Amino acid sequence: MKHINHIGIAVADLEDAIDTYERLLGRECYKRERVDQQQAAAAFFRAGESKVELLGATSADSVIAKFIDRKGEGVHHIAFEVDDIRAEMDRLRTDGFTILSEEPGRGADNKLVAFVHPRDNHGVLVELCQPIT
Ligand code: CO
Repeated sequence: MKHINHIGIAVADLEDAIDTYERLLGRECYKRERVDQQQAAAAFFRAGESKVELLGATSADSVIAKFIDRKGEGVHHIAFEVDDIRAEMDRLRTDGFTILSEEPGRGADNKLVAFVHPRDNHGVLVELCQPIT
């Protein structure tokens, strides 16, 4: 695994959170995208080699809505960049980690993504992400 590609933050009101993070980071959101797989809308900010990914639910059934119902707003996942997502998924499975999907999915910001169950990572949902070039 390589550097932290991004930190995903679950927010109740995406427009309000974009305004907050523009003021916090002192720069503008560079990209917005709908993530239909998670029934969410995402907004991205650059922070050095890493990014901040704000995630707002677009439906009450969204995993983001459920997360906020359970835990409130806050850090939802940490995403580590990888060169070969299938190889990393195999390596982690062999080591006993639970990967939440058989195959990588199509994530926001043009990436292949897979998630590692938070119980295996001391409470942190870990995303593996491989940029599609
Ligand atoms: Co993410």
